[in-house]
Amino acid sequence: MCGIVGYFGNKNAVPLLLNGLKRLEYRGYDSAGIAIMHEDSFALTKTAGKVKSLESLLKTAPMQGNIGIGHTRWATHGEPSDLNAHPHTDQTGKFVLIHNGIIENYAVLKEWLAQKGVTFQSDTDTEVLVQLISMIYHEEKISFENAVNLALKQVVGTYGILVMCSDEPNQLIAARLGSPLVLGVGEGEYFLASDASPIVEHTRNVIYLEEGECLIIGDDGYEIKHVDHGEKIEKEISRIDFSIEEIEKGNFPHYMLKEIYEQEKTIVDTMRGRLLLDEGSVHLGGIQDYLLRIERARHFYITACGTSWHAGLIGKYILEEFAGIPVHVEYASEFRYRNPVIDSQSVVIAISQSGETADTLAAITKAKEEGALTLGICNVVGSSISRETDCGIYTHAGPEIGVASTKAFTAQVSVLYMLALYLGRKNGYSKADGVKLAHALHDLGGRVKEILNITDEIRKIAEEMVDVENCLYLGRGTNFPVALEGALKLKEISYIHAEGYPAAEMKHGPIALIDEKMPVIFLAPHDKTYEKVLSNIQEVKARKGKIITVTDKNTPELQALSDHVIEISVSHPRTFPILATIPLQLLAYHLAVLRGCDVDMPRNLAKSVTVE
Ligand code: AGP
Repeated sequence: MCGIVGYFGNKNAVPLLLNGLKRLEYRGYDSAGIAIMHEDSFALTKTAGKVKSLESLLKTAPMQGNIGIGHTRWATHGEPSDLNAHPHTDQTGKFVLIHNGIIENYAVLKEWLAQKGVTFQSDTDTEVLVQLISMIYHEEKISFENAVNLALKQVVGTYGILVMCSDEPNQLIAARLGSPLVLGVGEGEYFLASDASPIVEHTRNVIYLEEGECLIIGDDGYEIKHVDHGEKIEKEISRIDFSIEEIEKGNFPHYMLKEIYEQEKTIVDTMRGRLLLDEGSVHLGGIQDYLLRIERARHFYITACGTSWHAGLIGKYILEEFAGIPVHVEYASEFRYRNPVIDSQSVVIAISQSGETADTLAAITKAKEEGALTLGICNVVGSSISRETDCGIYTHAGPEIGVASTKAFTAQVSVLYMLALYLGRKNGYSKADGVKLAHALHDLGGRVKEILNITDEIRKIAEEMVDVENCLYLGRGTNFPVALEGALKLKEISYIHAEGYPAAEMKHGPIALIDEKMPVIFLAPHDKTYEKVLSNIQEVKARKGKIITVTDKNTPELQALSDHVIEISVSHPRTFPILATIPLQLLAYHLAVLRGCDVDMPRNLAKSVTVE
């Protein structure tokens, strides 16, 4: 999950690469570096720390050139340090390379290279690759392009690489296997990046490199070939569908806050043109050709990671209830390595904001090998998962830059509700009920707007919690995954340890944690389990726990038991899980800010986990 940028054109590459790295910094930010080709040699600057540290270095030692590569790192092999930062060079100083991914057989290759006299400067797997390319180039006396090709054939693992060679100063080579790479095609200039966000301000014309493809850019233009068979590949140019404004912070202090506020619009955008209000059903264009297989599925598997997995868990509850089809929810990292009992009657739904999460991508491959129908729910058009799945439903949440996922989550849940409504109407859910739910989903934008007005109230609650060390989130039914999501938001950006549990499960252990220092956040809508949740609140109260209750209706009894009650108005009980997530996002956000944490780039994290 590093960020990669490249430029080949007639402008000074340095400012373009730096700005590109800033746009990609959310993908990884423990070290950064760039290399610029100038005449027949390249200059390189790299450092531990964020892109701004690199920028400061470049101010003192400027570089100049029209071809260059840049990298911002999330460390896999080798701690964050100046030496382990990318780009990496070979020992002859002719080759320079940046890499996103993992070379799994790097130790074997390193041993072989060391026996041939290669000495290594860093602890990274990436350096092994650039040394291998150089060894092959010098030993086989072949071209730069062929040396890259032969080296990649020896790699086991994943890569998205950009590489330059001072013997071919007017060539830039890129290749991808398992880590995304996008080519921006400008007027006589080319841009390369891990995703489209650094490219959109220069051109909307992009080509998404596919698995095993190698790109060679030179003075005569570009060529795309396959690493395995070397055949040229003609690829269509796509158009980026978002604007530069959508990836700017605007007047918000953080991307995360902007994206929390955008939910007033993004939930509506996700359902726009899909809700059939008068029929009480849904039209989902991306799965039209597969409806029969989906309706007749023996079971659904939902596979995802992190926040997307929480959305999937909500999906389980509502799809089983509406469609009457068994749903299994699995972490993608587990699904891909076990032997799930799936076949052509299985539908495997992969949920991913980035569409690039390595484990989720691998789970799809596994599902396809077993003959299952794969359905992607992604937020990035043209992403690997959206291209690998047989069919799909895009969440139209727009680019999500903040590492903590917010608007993507509510959009994913909205898509799952629409899928459930569609299937429910095929499974006895009445038109009248469908119309009510469709209107409630349609009405969500206005409800979100109301909730966003209580941000000051939530900041006051956060001020009381700023020194807590642990936190429990409890909910039942579709609010249990919301409890998990609230806990994840808190821990990943404020570094407060938090856990989500089914409310009843508290008595099976976690209740031992309750004391006056333990805040417990309850999801307590007036639904069929309300009385049970109320008992759980009383059990916490009896042990002096601090209680924050999120509910659809404030009542004297909740007031009496809770230190704080957050009331949200919902027009339909089914929509409570989507709306209740927003106060939890705001609580995590305010606590992170109050604790001086880096909200958009939390320590140790990256936005898209493209390595397993
Ligand atoms: C969520 O806030 C985290 N950033 C993380 O759990 C994320 O949801 C997970 O890595 C999955 O990412 P994806 O949706 O892009 O596949």
